[in-house]
Amino acid sequence: MTQEQLKQAVATAALEYIRPKLEEHTVLGIGTGSTTNLFIDGLATLRGQLNGTVASSEASAERLRQHGIPVFDLNAVDRVDFYIDGADEANRALELIKGGGAALTREKIIAAVAREFICIADGSKLVHTLGEFPLPVEVIPMARSHVARELVKLGGDPVYREGVVTDNGNIILDVHNFSIPQPLDIEKRINNITGVVANGLFALRPADLLLLGTDSGVQTLK
Ligand code: A5P
Repeated sequence: MTQEQLKQAVATAALEYIRPKLEEHTVLGIGTGSTTNLFIDGLATLRGQLNGTVASSEASAERLRQHGIPVFDLNAVDRVDFYIDGADEANRALELIKGGGAALTREKIIAAVAREFICIADGSKLVHTLGEFPLPVEVIPMARSHVARELVKLGGDPVYREGVVTDNGNIILDVHNFSIPQPLDIEKRINNITGVVANGLFALRPADLLLLGTDSGVQTLK
């Protein structure tokens, strides 16, 4: 199967997973990226069976609205039942690297609120050790050089993502050549650098469920 077909398979599997659990008060958190976009397109058929959504990016919010699916401000809801999002990398502990689409901070906020985080990814995203994918770090613009120097001290090779401004008005440093055998420790250390808004490690709040698209079918990892 192509990568696109595997993404479609996990998007469909996530829809099937939540379909029987939807109630009129259900609020879904919706992530960002090409896999999530396929989920959004499928969700259009279920839009009458839930209250609405909160979105991790302006792009996803726009796509949801185009399908007639309500999008709420996170501060206007008292619950997020399920959060559905892709990943750039995942390990078997369901710790993730996210932020390839520069939406990591809002993704972290929604994941923190959500009762259940369902990650959807094609099989190429599963790795033994996180860090082959450069780790995105969202940074306050004036702190860019300071944060870059601190990331070098941690052993990484930060690269400024040229031309990208996040939905929050900040910049992204992508940390290359940074093997991460202990994601929890590294997530905390990077969070402690002044000027960092968020980093793309999801170890403090990993996924609860990983639907992984493979040639032999969709695997469920918990
Ligand atoms: C967005 O910032 C990312 O966290 C995405 O979830 C991640 O890049 C996965 O994207 P794809 O579904 O396009 O691979």
